[in-house]
Amino acid sequence: MSTGVTGTGRAQVTEKTLRQDRWWLAPLATFTVFTAFIVYSTWRAVSNANYYDTPYLSPFYSPCLSTECVSGSSDFGTPIGFFPLSPALIILIFPLGFRLTCYYYRKAYYRAFWFSPPACAVAEPHGSYTGETRFPLIAQNIHRYFWYAAMLVTSVLTFDTVLAFRDEDGDWGHMGLGTVIMIINVTLLWLYTLSCHSCRHVMGGRLRHFSKHPVRYRVWGLASKLNVRHAQYAWVSLFSVALTDLYIYLLATGQFDDPRFF
Ligand code: FES
Repeated sequence: MSTGVTGTGRAQVTEKTLRQDRWWLAPLATFTVFTAFIVYSTWRAVSNANYYDTPYLSPFYSPCLSTECVSGSSDFGTPIGFFPLSPALIILIFPLGFRLTCYYYRKAYYRAFWFSPPACAVAEPHGSYTGETRFPLIAQNIHRYFWYAAMLVTSVLTFDTVLAFRDEDGDWGHMGLGTVIMIINVTLLWLYTLSCHSCRHVMGGRLRHFSKHPVRYRVWGLASKLNVRHAQYAWVSLFSVALTDLYIYLLATGQFDDPRFF
């Protein structure tokens, strides 16, 4: 039995939509930006070059855990040892998995890539709907575990940002434009990570009485405030992570020198 918009329990409307506004703009913008990001990040992840320019390490390659990492970029050692492919492929699985299973991104890319549905009150082309109850989409439920991984990765990126206060000789007290860019990037990543729906649940879920857990209640309240803007944080942090990588790429390829403030 059909469970889509043609299902017997649904109102039989022959038009695809009765909406008069430009509802297609949002999914089109999502499709364009996501496609651009996928192309760019894939190119950068497989290129395996120009991801470190002292003291800046690209977020795509952090932590760099392979013996193939360029000198100076492995602040957490090289426990992976020799890895024949780009070291970015070891680590990117976690932030990408986090974004791919994000509740907001799911809505965005289900609409933009699968037209499921393309927008509110616009009929989807599919004849049936199984939601996220079967393989492969049931795997979206591991989002909460990706959240733990994202906390770890964002902590590592915070550590990288602290290291960006060193100069080429390893002395502290350096601050360049790259340092500022990394601070902005890691701030936006924290806002995105801490505004996650799973974060709210981890902080305040499964409690019967908030009154008996005042600390968790307070933290849950903060996460809830951030959660209101989760979609915006998802977008701006996507741009910031790509732009941070691009900036370091331009430095590493010698396009210009990092402007230094002190
Ligand atoms: S819901 Fe978007 S990152 Fe968790």
